[in-house]
This record gives sequence, structure tokens and C-alpha cells, in this order.
Amino acid sequence: MIFEKKILCIGAGYVGGPTMAMIAYKCPQYRITVVDINPTRISEWNSDELPIYEPGLDEIVRATRGKNLFFINNIEAGIKDNDIIFVSVNTPTKTFGVGSGMAADLQYWEKTARQILQYSESSKIVIEKSTLPVKTALAMENILNYKSNSISFDVLSNPEFLAEGTAMNDLENPDRILIGSRETQSGMDARKTLVEIYANWVPREKIITSNIWSSELSKIVSNAFLAQRISSINAISALCEKTDADITEVAKAVGMDSRIGSKFLNASVGFGGSCFKKDILNLVYLCRHYGLSEVADYWESVIRINQYQQERFIWSMLTTMFNTLADKKICLFGFAFKANTGDTRESPAIFIARRLLEEKAEIIITDPKALRNARADLAGVEGKVSFEGDPYRAAEKCHAIAVLTEWDIYRNLDFQKIYDTMTKPASLFDGRNILDHKRCFDIGFNVYPIGKPPLTHF
Ligand code: NAD
Ligand code: UGA
Repeated sequence: MIFEKKILCIGAGYVGGPTMAMIAYKCPQYRITVVDINPTRISEWNSDELPIYEPGLDEIVRATRGKNLFFINNIEAGIKDNDIIFVSVNTPTKTFGVGSGMAADLQYWEKTARQILQYSESSKIVIEKSTLPVKTALAMENILNYKSNSISFDVLSNPEFLAEGTAMNDLENPDRILIGSRETQSGMDARKTLVEIYANWVPREKIITSNIWSSELSKIVSNAFLAQRISSINAISALCEKTDADITEVAKAVGMDSRIGSKFLNASVGFGGSCFKKDILNLVYLCRHYGLSEVADYWESVIRINQYQQERFIWSMLTTMFNTLADKKICLFGFAFKANTGDTRESPAIFIARRLLEEKAEIIITDPKALRNARADLAGVEGKVSFEGDPYRAAEKCHAIAVLTEWDIYRNLDFQKIYDTMTKPASLFDGRNILDHKRCFDIGFNVYPIGKPPLTHF
């Protein structure tokens, strides 16, 4: 079959895989190839057990794989055979050298740029899909256009805004698609090519274009704003606990102001995920680099509050359980950083589990999708940890349950049955405010929500 466009994506992760699957699904006239340096990831993408859990992903991959969507290991062939290249490699926080713990680690990104240069035999459009510090495109251009020959490269910024757990819907019905380019003739032509790809299913008015630096910066700022809302509501949850106000009622009253809006105001044990912390740290690093220390301090406080919220949760467990957790059995309901994903990167559950183990508690972890990652996250950590798929069995003989992920299944459990098998007094720490607290209290639990008065029998 002759395809209208041949598109490559380098990086078959949480973004590369679902994003390319959606383009393949919506555009049968294009051939999409995805490559990765990790051969296991590629073979998982080619198997019945995909490397990531994302509702709706299996169906779309099954409908396109082998028709116009291909997962391959050969990066060289991938680059040679395609004219449009998305780059979706990981950009974690640097853990060494200058900027350690703050700046983005751009080594995977730069290696990819060099590979593209090495193997290209024709001109290409190279699209930044990864989240990158503002001005990264300049470095990319400098590497790619180093050799002056007949091949030219146009670099575009097209950040991804999908959230895990809702990725397929976010990709199918995005709030916006952002495309940044150079404002030269070839930059504008490249921009048009990418607009055309998305216009196959995204309404034109939702496809916005900008200069390349605005596009790069908008992605990091979007994540910073979202995380800031969570830290704002979590900060107020601490005040609610001191004043008998109820955070759910406050969030409702505040969120009904149309200028504020109601989304992302759920108080919680803290935000997790691979990106919020990393992207804010990167923003803070950039601000300091440009001498904007007040701006850097402002954004850094979003992360400080998130850490404080997790510390408060542990503190509440310790103090309400008679100041000792040693040898107590504590069951963690959920380990994923949010519901509907198996991803545990930067999950508050990792921090909570480690701190409980430091207090010599025994922990039992249950989660419908994240137990494999949970095992890997806690490998080598000292202490008693076990993993159990069934929440009823996980809670047996426990002194306390801590709800750490807002999985729907936890809302509908038979808490009377759970209570009957637990050690008394039995405590329930609802780090997501998803349970019926009054009902659980009536059953006999001492209930400790976030940002609401506790319900205790003492
Ligand atoms: P990921 O770790 O799941 O996937 C990245 C993949 O790139 C890995 O499979 C890795 O093996 C591969 N890779 C690294 N170097 C490579 C190279 N030189 N050649 C080929 N493959 C290479 O990461 P992710 O979660 O998909 O995130 C990717 C980027 O997208 C990051 O910049 C992230 O900030 C951004 N982002 C992530 C999300 C999300 O929900 N996870 C959402 C929006 C944006
Ligand atoms: C987030 C953004 O929502 C995406 O737009 C962005 O593309 C992505 O980061 C990224 O760049 O990686 P994601 O981290 O997958 O997506 O999930 P979110 O729904 O944003 O949740 C992040 C964390 O905040 C989770 O731990 C969640 O439980 C927590 N959260 C969210 C709250 O504690 N309260 C809320 O009201 C909302």
C-alpha cells in the first residue's frame, strides 16, 4: 500500500505509544512507525500484554498494529525511511553534576538528535513531543544543521498534554493542540504539515500555533499551573483540619466561581506522576538561571507544599495510632499515582510506604494494576512488605488502612466485612477523600480524612 505520509516516533513510552496509536487510528492513510532503544518495550508493544495500562489503548492498538502502525527496534532504518519524526524520549530530572536535582537531563534527547543526523539521507521535520526546557529547539537545530549539506531539518515543538488514565480520550478530544515553529518560510511550511496531520480529527479552532519558544514554555507552565492548584487546595486542607472547616465544601464554594473553575481542586495525599515535580523543578532551575530568584521561589513552594502534605499524612497516622507504628500492620489501598493507570512514578505511595517501614510498621500493598511496579519501587527496601491483589485479604488483621489511590473499586467495598477482620481499634486514613466517612465511622472505624474533622470513637 502507498501511504500519504511516513511518520516515525522515537520513544515508545507512555506518550509515544498512545499518541502514535491514535494518529494511526485516525489516519489510515499514513504509515506510523515507533522505535525504542529498549527491545523489551518493543516486543511488549508487539504482544498481547502492552507495556502500559491505559483504558481504551488495547482496542486501538489491535485495530492498527500491522496495518499502518509498526513497533520496531531498528532506529537506523526508522530514521532513513521516514520524513516526519516525533521525538518522545524521556527527559527526567538530572541526578548528577551541574543542576543535579533540578535541571532536565537532556542526554537521551541529545543522543536522539545525533542519531537523526547520522542516519538521515533526506530532509526531515523533527518534532519535539517530549517536555523540554525553553530554548531546547535551538540546541536541536544546532546539532542537526551542523553539517551543511543538501539535507535540512525543521524543528517543531508540539508538546503533549494527555493525562494518564484518560490518555485515549485526551488524544481523541484534546482541549488544544499546540504547534510552535520558527517563523521562517520553511518553519511555516513544516508547521502547516503538522497542522494537516492533526486536522484529520481535531477541529481547526483547537489547533493553535505559536513561536517555538512560547510552545516549549507553555507546556511546562501548564503543568506548573495544574500542580499549583493541587498545592493550593492541599495547603488549605491543613487549615481546615485546624478550624473544623470541610475542604470539600470549601473547594465547591471556591470552584463555583467561573473565574476559578472546579477542576483540580481535590485535596489529596499529594500529587505524583512522572512530570509535575520534574517540570516545576525545571521551571525553577530556568528562573534561577535567568536571575529570577523571586519567581523561582514562588514555584518551588508548590513542591514544598506537596512534600509537606505527604509528611502531614504520616504524622497523622503516627500520632493518632498512639505514637508508635512498630509491628503494626498497615494496608495501603492503591499504589499507582492516580486511578486508571499502573504507573507509580513519583507516587506519594512510595514515600508513604518507605516512611511507614522506617517506623517499623508492616505494610501490605494492594492495587488493581500497579503491583508489578510497586514491587520494583520497593525492591531492596528494608522491612516487612507484602503484595496482595484482593483488598479484602490485604486488610485482614491490619490495624489501619490508608487509601492512597482513588480507584473506583475502593468506593464500593463492603467495609463492614473489612472491619470485622481487622485488629481493633481499626483506623481508616482516606488520603483521597473517596469513602463514605460517616458510614465507616458508624461501622466502628476511626476515620481520618484530608481537610475534614476526624470521626473517632475515642
Ligand atoms: P517513558 O520513559 O515512558 O518513555 C520514553 C521512552 O524513550 C523509553 O521507552 C526509552 O527507552 C526511550 N528512549 C530513550 N532514549 C532513546 C533513544 N535514544 N532512542 C530511542 N528510544 C529512546 O516516558 P514518557 O512518560 O513517555 O515521557 C516522554 C516525554 O513526554 C517526557 O518528556 C515527558 O515529560 C513528556 N510527557 C509525558 C506525559 C505522561 O503522561 N507520561 C504526558 C505529557 C508529556
Ligand atoms: C499531568 C497533566 O494533567 C497532563 O496535562 C500532562 O500532559 C501530564 O501531567 C504530563 O506532562 O506528564 P498526569 O500526571 O498523568 O497528567 O495526571 P493528573 O491527572 O494531572 O494527576 C497528577 C497528580 O495529581 C496525580 O497524583 C493526581 O492524583 C493528583 N491530583 C489531581 C490531585 O491530587 N488532586 C486533583 O484535584 C487532581
